[in-house]
Parts: sequence; structure tokens; C-alpha cells
Amino acid sequence: MHRTVKWGLLGAALCCTSMLAAAAGKSDPLGNVAASFKAHGQAGMDRLERDPMQQACSQPASSEPSAEVAKSISRSAQERVKPPSDGQYLGDWKAGEKIAQTGKGMQYSDDPAEPNGGNCYACHQMAGSEIAYGTLGPSLSQYGKLRGTSPAILEYTWTRLWNSHVYNVCSHMPRFGDAGILTEQQLKDVMAYLFDLDSPVNQ
Ligand code: HEC
Repeated sequence: MHRTVKWGLLGAALCCTSMLAAAAGKSDPLGNVAASFKAHGQAGMDRLERDPMQQACSQPASSEPSAEVAKSISRSAQERVKPPSDGQYLGDWKAGEKIAQTGKGMQYSDDPAEPNGGNCYACHQMAGSEIAYGTLGPSLSQYGKLRGTSPAILEYTWTRLWNSHVYNVCSHMPRFGDAGILTEQQLKDVMAYLFDLDSPVNQ
């Protein structure tokens, strides 16, 4: 109760500041977002703090990051990629299938002690038998069959999952490794789901 009142009051204060700014003809998009967001469960107000990549990629389309800024974002993303500690990229595809199908995790109503999902189907086609999938990302159907498992393709895919911004500065794909969404073992399992020739992705 006390918490609700506290954030309610903060919300009211932010609301009026942004309304005053609007009345004075100043745009205050961040103030507006803060005013409409309440801390709840694991979703704290710190989620409104943007890192340099998020700041650069939240500008209007007319002011995309300069080539220099883009280069520095992708370089620092690359520097933070952690390869698998034992050098093994592939885990268990059956566990990976569940992770790819699960959209739970990191929302205010989710238990932070439970493992997060990857929600891959929200953006990608994967197993051909799955009828519901999003199309924001490319189809990953037949991924392993088409690309094989050379060291270069394993490393590329691991890096994609760890932090897609290495390759596409303003990527819409979540930073599964870098942002701590999936654990190393979960990433290996999702990798196996993409590459294992027995996985439904490759049927
Ligand atoms: C919110 C949407 C979104 C989610 C969720 C998402 N991706 Fe992506 N993914 C993309 C987009 C968009 C691209 C295209 C490249 C880019 O823009 O970065 C992509 C690219 C990829 C690629 C590279 C494809 C290629 O042809 O080289 C792989 C592999 C991939 N995603 C795997 C996954 C896996 C596995 C998951 C779940 C753990 C996942 N993605 C979740 C949006 C998403």
C-alpha cells in the first residue's frame, strides 16, 4: 500500500512536470514515459535508463547514428561477447525448443527465480510444423541444414544470440547473452535447436 502511494505521488509529480513542459511548448518524451510507468515487481524505474546504444537508436529515423557512432557501438558489443566457457556451442535441442517457444520472463508479473524464455517464435519461423510465428525477423527454418556447423557459422550464430547489435547496430533482436536474458546453457540449447539435424527446425 505504502509503495503504491509512494509511486503514485512520484507519478503525479512527473506527470505535472511533463504537462507544464508541454504547455510551455517543450517536448518531454522521457518525462511522459516516466509519468506513465510504475515500478512493479522486477520491472523497476531503472528500466527507463538507456545505455549509449539505446540512446543512439531511439532517435527519429531522420537522425540515425553516424557511421562513427555505429562503429563504436558494434565494436563495444563485440568486445563483450563471451564464447562458451568450455568451447562447446551445442547443447540439447529438446531443451532449446522449449526455450524458443517460451515467452515468459522479465515482466513485472514473472518470478525472477524462474528461468526466462527466448520468445524466438514471436519474431521467427523455426520448425515447419509450427503454424504461429512472427515475421519481424527472417525465417530460421532449415537453419542448420542449410548452413552446416563450421566453426565460423557456430561463432556467428552464438554472437547473434549474445548481442545482435554486433552485426546490426539498431537490431530489434533482444541481447540474449549480453543482457542476461538467457544463461550460457540455455544459449547452447537454443543453438542445438537451430543446428541439430534431428531438431524440428531442420525437418
Ligand atoms: C523481437 C524480435 C526478435 C526475437 C524475439 C528474436 N529475434 Fe532473432 N532476429 C530478429 C531480427 C529482426 C533479425 C534480423 C537481423 C537484425 O535485424 O538484427 C534476427 C536475426 C536472427 C538470426 C540471424 C539470421 C541469419 O540469417 O543470419 C538468428 C540466428 C536469430 N535471429 C535467432 C534468434 C533466436 C534463436 C531467438 C530466440 C532465442 C531470436 N532470434 C529471437 C528479431 C528477433
